[in-house]
Amino acid sequence: MLNIALPKGRLGEKVYAMFEAAGYECPAIRENSRKLIFENAEKGIRYFWVKPSDVSIYVERGAADVGVAGKDILLEYHPDVYELLDLNVGRCKMAVAAPRDFHDDGERTLRVATKFASIAADYYAGMGRDVDFIKLNGSIELAPILGLSDVIVDIVETGTTLRENNLEVVADILPISARLIANKASFKFKNRQLEEMLARMKEQVK
Ligand code: PRP
Repeated sequence: MLNIALPKGRLGEKVYAMFEAAGYECPAIRENSRKLIFENAEKGIRYFWVKPSDVSIYVERGAADVGVAGKDILLEYHPDVYELLDLNVGRCKMAVAAPRDFHDDGERTLRVATKFASIAADYYAGMGRDVDFIKLNGSIELAPILGLSDVIVDIVETGTTLRENNLEVVADILPISARLIANKASFKFKNRQLEEMLARMKEQVK
């Protein structure tokens, strides 16, 4: 049995469609239920829906053989997994954003609110700048509006959230997309199955 951790939500549905087209279908998953685990015994696969930021934890610890995680999560937490393939979906970018009227004098300590403290720290590390990182868990865009921070480091997809909150990108940090990842022991012991899955998934990447 191959265990596959899918990120719950819109990205997960796109990614499942890729697995399905690659021959790893599990029709029950399309029934809109609150169930979290779906199995196709005949194909020897089991899917489960996981909070996107938790996928790499399931894979690292072997509860899942493979999974799909954003490059943002891989860079932030450095899970000990193999990154097998860029699926070229869930594309967005990590960026610095600030209120439209923000002017950075470059001297004061810069207050940066973010969910991605490690990525943000790496980005500012080379700049010889005093930075105060404020770790938040969501709705990061609020921080500069309320004066909690000067800027944010966050994910920008369509840019709508920034626009609707009078913020703008001041610097791009990294492009992000979803990656197929594998547990290291699984890759060794279920190598034939995982190599085959990798080859078939490669054909689905657009
Ligand atoms: C992400 C990100 C931005 C938004 C960007 O938030 O943190 O807030 O999406 O998308 P856009 O550019 O298309 O508007 P998410 O939905 O994950 O929620 P949270 O960070 O507030 O938890």
